Amino acid sequence: MTYKGQIWKCNVCGNIIEVLSPRDDSSEPHEGADALVCCGQPMNLMEENSVDASVEKHVPVIDDKKVKVGSVPHPMDDKHYIEWIEATSATGEIVKVFLSPGMVSEAEFNFKPTSARGYCNLHGLWKSKF
Ligand SMILES: [Fe+2]
Repeated sequence: MTYKGQIWKCNVCGNIIEVLSPRDDSSEPHEGADALVCCGQPMNLMEENSVDASVEKHVPVIDDKKVKVGSVPHPMDDKHYIEWIEATSATGEIVKVFLSPGMVSEAEFNFKPTSARGYCNLHGLWKSKF
């Protein structure tokens, strides 16, 4: 079943989407589908921290209001870079910062995140560890 916050990718066209509902608690009346479809094919659910790649360069590290991907800076070149960093606050606020090649693989937020995720164009979705 789909749930809020999931990231799905189309293996045909490369579209990446995020599920906004149903919520991840039982109060939400929406029911999500088992899978999503794009280009006539089932989309691929991006599982966090599931790709065999350098953990040090991908797992987001929270340092006060800053999130760095990862403990060793991730490359930010044209063919391999962090597309976005997402931070969640203690009150449930979710903010994404989109990055481009040439930038630094980090972002600063106006709150201290309780969790963070980052998306590498080659190595997928990564979540901070707590
Ligand atoms: Fe990567």
